[in-house]
Amino acid sequence: MPKMKIAGEDIYYVQRSTGGTESSMVFIHGAGGTHRHWGYQLQAVPGPNLYAPDLPGHGRSGGGARTSITGYAEFLGSFLEGLGLTRTTLVGHSMGGAIAQDFALNHASEVDRLILVGTGARLRVLPSFLQGLLNDFESAVEMILGYAYSDSAPQELVDLGRQEWLANPPEVLHGDFFACDNFDVMDRLGEIRCPILLICGEEDQLTPSKYSQFLRERVAEAMLTIIPRAGHMVMLEQPEQVSRAIEEFLKMTTA
Ligand code: COA
Repeated sequence: MPKMKIAGEDIYYVQRSTGGTESSMVFIHGAGGTHRHWGYQLQAVPGPNLYAPDLPGHGRSGGGARTSITGYAEFLGSFLEGLGLTRTTLVGHSMGGAIAQDFALNHASEVDRLILVGTGARLRVLPSFLQGLLNDFESAVEMILGYAYSDSAPQELVDLGRQEWLANPPEVLHGDFFACDNFDVMDRLGEIRCPILLICGEEDQLTPSKYSQFLRERVAEAMLTIIPRAGHMVMLEQPEQVSRAIEEFLKMTTA
């Protein structure tokens, strides 16, 4: 599996590629996640070049997790540069969506499209989550899990999510949520000119669909798909519907 050294950090990523660098898509996971969150989409979404890194300090990547969205967006810039990608479609979930927005705002010419899944232009975090992650990690993870999935999510999926979040050192998960808590680009959305697809689970309690609706109203070329029977982990809970929405959007926005 590919690894890349970026500024001294060993970064692990998966790649589905049939050559060339046009129509590249980079999938960015959320707080405490890994590339595995995109496992289904990496197989199902058509496109010659799909990449999904584990962010620094996450999953199989080395390096240090960041504590700001801008810090992760800077990493993303280096990752794209390392792959030789000059124009990309960015797909981000939750914190990954914040990273994609930050990057698009500061590097507009490098972003073809944005696909923002279960995210928002401001991501305040419940203080009890943030505090709990430092004081009683396991209970805090349990609390977040309780909000992250819809009632119809299979128990195995929730159990996998628990395993994955608990695999992070507490300071990594805390740093990610801290980064989200300080993210706010609500006043800058008018600057985004590229087409955007917003996807949100109807039962999302961590980034309710109101957040996606706000984005749709403020960005010129935005469309929104609300997915029923799904919560915040919508791409895992309803993977086929999410992939289909992405595929349709790609068709609509391909010249
Ligand atoms: N898009 C649109 N509206 C947003 C928004 C976004 N991204 N973020 C906040 N708002 C709205 C809120 O709905 C609220 O509207 P209201 O006054 O009509 O109810 C207003 O802006 C202020 O909200 P917020 O900035 O979040 O501050 P708050 O002090 O009201 O609430 C929390 C703080 C943490 C309780 C709240 O943000 C929350 O419940 N967050 C979801 C849970 C969470 O921790 N999610 C993790 C995200 S990574």
